[in-house]
Amino acid sequence: MTISYQYDVLIIGSGAAGLTVALNLPDHLKVAVLSKTSLQSGSTAQAQGGIAAVLDQTDTVESHIEDTLRAGGGLCHEDAVRFTVEHSRAAIEWLIEQGVRFTEKESDDDSGFAYHLTKEGGHSRRRIIHAADATGFAVSAALCEQVKKRPNVEILENRIGVDLITHRKLFLPGNRCVGAYVLNRETSHVELFRARFVVLATGGASKVYLYTSNPDGATGDGIAMAWRAGCRVANMEFNQFHPTCLYHPQAKNFLITEAIRGEGGRLRLPNGEPFMHRFDPREELAPRDVVARAIDHEIKRLGCDCVYLDISHRPAEFITSHFPTVYQRCLELGIDITREPIPVVPAAHYTCGGIMIDSQGRTDINQLYAVGETAFTGLHGANRMASNSLLECFVYGRSCAQDIAAQCANVPEPPQAPDWDESQVTDSDEDVVISHNWDELRRFMWDYVGIVRTDKRLQRAKHRVDMLQQEIREYYSNYKVSRDLLELRNLTLVADLIICSAIQRKESRGLHYTLDYPDLLDEARDTILTPINYSSESW
Ligand code: FAD
Ligand code: SIN
Repeated sequence: MTISYQYDVLIIGSGAAGLTVALNLPDHLKVAVLSKTSLQSGSTAQAQGGIAAVLDQTDTVESHIEDTLRAGGGLCHEDAVRFTVEHSRAAIEWLIEQGVRFTEKESDDDSGFAYHLTKEGGHSRRRIIHAADATGFAVSAALCEQVKKRPNVEILENRIGVDLITHRKLFLPGNRCVGAYVLNRETSHVELFRARFVVLATGGASKVYLYTSNPDGATGDGIAMAWRAGCRVANMEFNQFHPTCLYHPQAKNFLITEAIRGEGGRLRLPNGEPFMHRFDPREELAPRDVVARAIDHEIKRLGCDCVYLDISHRPAEFITSHFPTVYQRCLELGIDITREPIPVVPAAHYTCGGIMIDSQGRTDINQLYAVGETAFTGLHGANRMASNSLLECFVYGRSCAQDIAAQCANVPEPPQAPDWDESQVTDSDEDVVISHNWDELRRFMWDYVGIVRTDKRLQRAKHRVDMLQQEIREYYSNYKVSRDLLELRNLTLVADLIICSAIQRKESRGLHYTLDYPDLLDEARDTILTPINYSSESW
């Protein structure tokens, strides 16, 4: 018999988005927060640069909005940008109340604002509040500490959301989400979680690419679950490549924060020559799509493995105090960044598209919400501006919690749902199929659906992803679920959504650059995909 639980609110994901929702819900609601592995395992704890917000008295909401719109290549939804930026100061004040210790100014000045602000690509002024170069860890640690104190919130680690349970799947009238099936990794059994509200806060999908700055769990599970349940997704072709990840055989997924460029770091070719002036007048501080494409172009032109990021002209004391994490990690690998340049390459970093939501985090299905990197709010357009992502998690996390609080008196208990049926499946006898397909998927996505695309490459990728999906569908119906299988199934679906979206866009805009359509169309349009067959592979 399937073990079952019942909550008022089930939050799938324990990063900035999930924890912000949990901490803003009223105390009388019984809440579960699930994490795929440990509580701090998502991208949030790895975030380096900081959080963009209008904090300095010389900065304005209009200026932050204008910079975001410009970086977004004409595709940002202005209402979402305004909503986010107008709430940025309140979000930072809330984080300070939760105990986040941001880096302070060395000596206070007349502005009365005590914190140091750094600069990153696309921002016309200093507006990134940070905790040295480990902002995400400081935020995550503070929010985890707070959530552990909440008696109404239960934290369940090593639980993987498999699929959502909806009225449609239960053959009940209406369009409501009432829970999820969840794999307990400690027992290897699938459990039933019924809830009055479900929040997807599962992060991004950059693991779909061979090289990524993201942690292992960034496999787009929420996007895939929502799609299978019947939600629309938007703008999946816009996957952001961060220009500077460490290039070193022993370094896995290590980011070199953009704040290094904000503090004067120069990009150089292997012969020491700077090159960004040839690509954009903003040079190293151009938006990420421009810098990543420039690096990709130079690496391909010269046939070299990487380019170099050089901050060694700044005083050693400045470097070690502002960038202790980067300094320490590079030193462990034999690179002293106070004396020598850092070898860097672009890598997949952020999923700009996602599950379509409104300003309260509501999806196409009643009582199903999505927040954070898994969601599409319209804030990022065709290219996310640096440090707007964490901000989005806090602003939408709070508005989502407020909406649940406002609705909860009128939403009934969830109905009964069937047990997870394992009667037709056996233990997998060929895990090599899973690992092979993982590798194949990530490699062809990198080669064919990466920084520079063509119709031919996209068609090749589409052909391969169709074959993989068929194989995985068969495998899924015959064998018991495991983490690797679930993630592969989700990643392959997300890859298909990325490819289909990229094929539909007949122009180059922001992060989507194709040699076949190098120009911008006059009209900026979102790519919206709608699931046509809700039930084909959900159970
Ligand atoms: P995450 O923090 O990724 O959390 C996802 C959660 O969902 C995890 O708890 C995971 O265990 C859980 N989960 C996933 N799937 C399932 C499932 N099936 N079942 C159960 N649980 C599941 N942004 C900025 O604004 N500023 C920065 O300085 C910055 N630096 C970054 C540096 C790095 C190296 C990276 C990778 C990203 C950075 N970003 C930055 C982006 C930003 O960190 C992320 O967009 C943001 O943290 C996403 O938060 P989230 O809560 O949506 O997801
Ligand atoms: C960085 O520190 O470069 C990451 C910032 C971001 O992704 O917004």
